[in-house]
Amino acid sequence: MCGIVGYLGNGNAYDVLIKGLHRLEYRGYDSAGIAMVSPAGKLNVFKAKGKVENLETLCKDKDTNATIGIAHTRWATHGEPSDTNAHPHYSEDGELALVHNGTIENYKLLRDVLEEHGCTFHSETDTEVLVQLIEYIKVKNNCSLLDAVREALHQVVGAYAIAVIEKNNPDTIVAARQSSPLVIGIGEDDTFLASDATPFVEYTQNAVYLKDGEIAVIQRGEPLKIFDLDNCESKIDVKTLELTISQLEKGGYPSFMLKEIFEQPTTLRECIRGRVVDGGRKILLNGVLDNKEVFKNAKRIVIVACGTSWHASLIGKYLIQEMCHIPVEVEYASEFRYSCPVLTKDDIVIALSQSGETADTLAAVKIARDMGAFVFGISNAVGSSIPRETDSGAYIHVGPEIGVASTKAFTGQVMVLTILALAIAELRESMPQEKVAELGKHLLEIPELVEHVLKLDEEVKRLSLIYTYARNFLYLGRGYNYPVALEGALKLKEISYIHAEGYPAAEMKHGPIALIDAEMPSVIIAPQDHLYEKIVSNVQQVKARGGSIIAIVTEGDSVIRNIADHVLEIPEVPECLSPIITSIPLQLLSYYIAVNKGKNVDMPRNLAKSVTVE
Ligand code: M6R
Repeated sequence: MCGIVGYLGNGNAYDVLIKGLHRLEYRGYDSAGIAMVSPAGKLNVFKAKGKVENLETLCKDKDTNATIGIAHTRWATHGEPSDTNAHPHYSEDGELALVHNGTIENYKLLRDVLEEHGCTFHSETDTEVLVQLIEYIKVKNNCSLLDAVREALHQVVGAYAIAVIEKNNPDTIVAARQSSPLVIGIGEDDTFLASDATPFVEYTQNAVYLKDGEIAVIQRGEPLKIFDLDNCESKIDVKTLELTISQLEKGGYPSFMLKEIFEQPTTLRECIRGRVVDGGRKILLNGVLDNKEVFKNAKRIVIVACGTSWHASLIGKYLIQEMCHIPVEVEYASEFRYSCPVLTKDDIVIALSQSGETADTLAAVKIARDMGAFVFGISNAVGSSIPRETDSGAYIHVGPEIGVASTKAFTGQVMVLTILALAIAELRESMPQEKVAELGKHLLEIPELVEHVLKLDEEVKRLSLIYTYARNFLYLGRGYNYPVALEGALKLKEISYIHAEGYPAAEMKHGPIALIDAEMPSVIIAPQDHLYEKIVSNVQQVKARGGSIIAIVTEGDSVIRNIADHVLEIPEVPECLSPIITSIPLQLLSYYIAVNKGKNVDMPRNLAKSVTVE
């Protein structure tokens, strides 16, 4: 979490940095700050608690004239959100300013040593230690900023993406990364750096993704230079961005979340494009085709992910087990990494992550690779760490997801997992070819069906008014729709702050049924599949205890319609493809309930889009 941005060029640094911070605000929004060196040689640092707009207000009557600067939007780890703990942090002598995304694990030790040498600290952050350490080394060794940064990073344990500027050198930014993302944008007369490419996409399409252990030196009038921690110069690999400004704007919608919900027919088409071809008869997934032997011989698949991606992974388990008959385990990446995992060369580990930067998932990838497993990454953010650290993989191609609550990325992930399962099934001949082709054909119809389900919008909006003030919700589903219940509950709690639990419908009678009363609505996902009769009895069990029921049912359902308080109808679809369809009304329901409550759906409290710390 936290977003960093930097600029060096001929333009107005303040304007570029503030705009960049707005783009990165999804990464954290509890405070923001900016540091610039003015033409008069002053290091101006401004910081404000709260969103970037508070920083803008603060800066209104300040000297913001500069052509070099760094900025930060924070998601607090060490120290509460406050003006003092906000970045940039500066050295005691006011010579250096630094922004940081990540966590310095040995900061306490370093702080004690620096205090012994007379340093005074003003904030509670781990970051201040880093800037003080760099300045201490610079003065002690009388060395350049680059040398001081390198030496300091040798002493640091943890994750970081940093950018440092000096008061007496308005022509240089030094930046570095280890386990936190950092990308440099190379324009004609300007150079940019940021946690992702969104702050500079309108200025340049040329991007250099820094690798772990690399330090970049951005120098006015000089080409970019990159070194490793041993000071060996690295080759510069310039990539062309596949990003457009319109993808970063709300496009007339009141929020990114609603835009992203309504984008799903398009994003799902993008996700399928070139992968399900010939009317569904051919499944082409390069990551599988390039590694046929690995997928043919795998004895087990382990999927690691967090949050919404973990829910999509559970659907992946059902898909792969049904279609490919390979045992699948789904692990929270944060637990997997500390669970003494047992992996062999016959295992495939799939890392699923929208951002491609989630720290726990990335750590799980590294463990899996070290243990010799083949690691397949499924991600949305092109050029992010997970695709770069894995043996092979697939992008979900749904475009930037900016709303903190994941919607189009979830359906994209489920789509890619479905295509992956079909591709493996075809390769291993675990499913008759006609069945693969039939499902392929249905897959091609999914975007249109999603379009159809989105027409429930008004109905869901009306329904949301009845439940806006409910204090608890239960979400129930079975089989493929059990993970959808988990996802529906997560969507509601993260943006409306209403407590919600997702449960396998049949498990309800082993405990949660005790919670049911007139105050506890249940959302039950009950399409007509092979578990339909069973879920009907679960619906009756809830009704018998006085709970109100919102049911997601297949069009034409008459049984549940007579029991439930409200039904939302979805079109008929093969069972294994139903999660993409059933999740849409749940996205809308959580969205409208949160809006009715006046919540900021794009930036819910305490959250950040990309969780780059443990
Ligand atoms: O970028 P990732 O998919 O790795 O992120 C994982 C979770 O942090 C993420 O899905 C989170 O749960 C969402 N905010 C939920 O909407």
